[in-house]
Amino acid sequence: MLCRKYGRPSTLVLITILLMAALVFFFGITTHLHSNVDSSVKTNIQQVRNELSYHFHQKLESVKTIVKIDPALKPRNIKLLNQQDIQPFRGNILFLVNSNIGNKERRTSIRKNWANQTKFNQHRKKFHNVSFKAYFMTGFKAEKFNLAKTESVKYGDLLITNRTEDYWDFSRRAMISFHWTIENCYYDYLLKADDDIFIHIPNLFTFLYKDPYVLKHHDRLYAGYIIMHGKPHRNLKFKWGVTYEEWGADAYPPFSTGMGFILSRFIIEKMIPHFDWEKPFRVDDVYIGHLVYMAQISNIGIRSSVGQEFSRFNDPKKCPIQSKAIVYHQVLTEDCMRKLTESSLKVK
Ligand SMILES: *[C@@H]1O[C@H](CO)[C@@H](O)[C@H](O)[C@H]1NC(C)=O
Ligand SMILES: *[C@@H]1O[C@H](CO)[C@@H](O)[C@H](O)[C@H]1NC(C)=O
Ligand SMILES: *[C@@H]1O[C@H](CO)[C@@H](O)[C@H](O)[C@H]1NC(C)=O
Repeated sequence: MLCRKYGRPSTLVLITILLMAALVFFFGITTHLHSNVDSSVKTNIQQVRNELSYHFHQKLESVKTIVKIDPALKPRNIKLLNQQDIQPFRGNILFLVNSNIGNKERRTSIRKNWANQTKFNQHRKKFHNVSFKAYFMTGFKAEKFNLAKTESVKYGDLLITNRTEDYWDFSRRAMISFHWTIENCYYDYLLKADDDIFIHIPNLFTFLYKDPYVLKHHDRLYAGYIIMHGKPHRNLKFKWGVTYEEWGADAYPPFSTGMGFILSRFIIEKMIPHFDWEKPFRVDDVYIGHLVYMAQISNIGIRSSVGQEFSRFNDPKKCPIQSKAIVYHQVLTEDCMRKLTESSLKVK
């Protein structure tokens, strides 16, 4: 299709190369991306650990020994602003959707579409009536709070953190929310997403309950668009540039890009003791990878995206159906969300 559109294949190759170069540049990833299962299966977390420098471990040890923690940041003192409204979940798959407190329309659209469990009853039946529920984690804005509070009472699915909507505070928001789910819910898998994400529920079920690698690692799965050998970008002019003080090592642990990834409950439980409430690394998707690494899960199943599975870009204007995808982003309108959901419902 693309070939036809651009005429000669050489033009296409050039465009592809340029696009890829732009992406690599954009994300600050100057590394080889593993995108097939074989290589991810072979990847041993121990090997990755060895690659991380000694310096890095030292830094972590020194962070742990900081004694004076702001009491407001101690886990037991952190309360969600609408704690009493939230209806806990007991089931299989918990979706944790990062959402700006003002994005009520996106949340409404998600609730009506892919997160509406009833719509997928036929698909659920095939997997012992597997259950799921979406929660939305937000920050706090005084002028948006009353409206959000009404929404929270009505749906019982908002986690309103007493934090800002600052992009660089998402590591804390994630920790607070992960903590809440572990304390209050039962689930097998947590899928973290953003509110411009579409989730293909039937494909997700097939992935979780039929993929041999996933089944084998069901209780210790970290799946997503995994960057196996990421490196920090040192040029602070870039959005993701970080200083040596923030991240001392020259390598990042394996991490999934943050738009949508899956973690088994067991891993999250093991991550919690390593939560650094005072100075979490501000690049939130790397920080999650770091916490997974700190949790030292033996025989962990790090499952990279195969083909379209995770984090494919959608063209918001065209809203194409990506039949093999599990999660993908830039679904910005209710119309697109509905179209994709209806198409996913047709999968047998
Ligand atoms: C979910 O789907 C069911 C069945 O299609 C429908 O009756 C219900 O109104 C939907 N709920 C929401 C919140 O859209
Ligand atoms: C799933 O739910 C339906 C309707 O509630 C029920 O009839 C069926 O027996 C359930 N199946 C399993 C495997 O639990
Ligand atoms: C929210 O955070 C502010 C400080 O940023 C604090 O003064 C206030 O007590 C907190 N509110 C709750 C309910 O935790």
